[in-house]
Amino acid sequence: MRRPLVAGNWKMNGDSQSTVSLVNGIVDGRGDVTRAEVLICPPYILIPRAADALNGRDDIALGAQDLDINQNGAFTGQISASMLVDAGCTYVIVGHSERRAIYGESDQDVAEKFRVAQEGGLIPVLCVGETLEERESGDTENVVARQVQAVIDVVGIENFDNSVIAYEPVWAIGTGKTATPEMAQEVHKFIRDMLSALNKDIADQLRILYGGSMNAGNAESLIGMTDIDGGLIGGASLQPDSFLAICTAAN
Ligand code: PGA
Repeated sequence: MRRPLVAGNWKMNGDSQSTVSLVNGIVDGRGDVTRAEVLICPPYILIPRAADALNGRDDIALGAQDLDINQNGAFTGQISASMLVDAGCTYVIVGHSERRAIYGESDQDVAEKFRVAQEGGLIPVLCVGETLEERESGDTENVVARQVQAVIDVVGIENFDNSVIAYEPVWAIGTGKTATPEMAQEVHKFIRDMLSALNKDIADQLRILYGGSMNAGNAESLIGMTDIDGGLIGGASLQPDSFLAICTAAN
């Protein structure tokens, strides 16, 4: 049985004060959410704030939104896997569509980040998903397969055992448009089948999250689908109430 995971991607939002109140709100309201795993991914600079606010609690995991492929040295502005581990992170998002589209990350860049994250002791959350244009031209499966295959080519299928995939249709991110549960399930199943053809055990235990305008109102029907094991939440992760409602739906 796959343990559901609800991950909050705060993106470039928040400050010291809002981080403390958001973390406290999640901690205080978490209550019965014990089956679902809860992860928050603040901006780099707020990770230590969030860790302080968690005050040693390890039932809410900490993650980052990106990392550099280098370990240390002359890479101005970058953050490495070991720095993230040192700050208390256990997860890191790689290949978010905003990184791919705005910062030009290629499938190969993302695959390297996945590899470096794992080698550094972090669990990568690999984001994949098609644009509206790609969906409308019937390319959804090709795009998602290409994005996943690039990582398989670098790390091998066996290294998917300690990772998470997030299917995030680009047209659904931050737009209020959500894939229907059936549309999302179809792609999740496609990804799982693709991995299953290489290694059934790994595919069966891999958590595949849905992301893209998931909210308190649609979380239950999405996460209720067979191959949807939780959510990667942007906008709705910035308020304790909406985030906790999704955690409860996943529980
Ligand atoms: P959204 O973002 O929930 O605001 O659509 C999801 C994501 O980009 O991870």
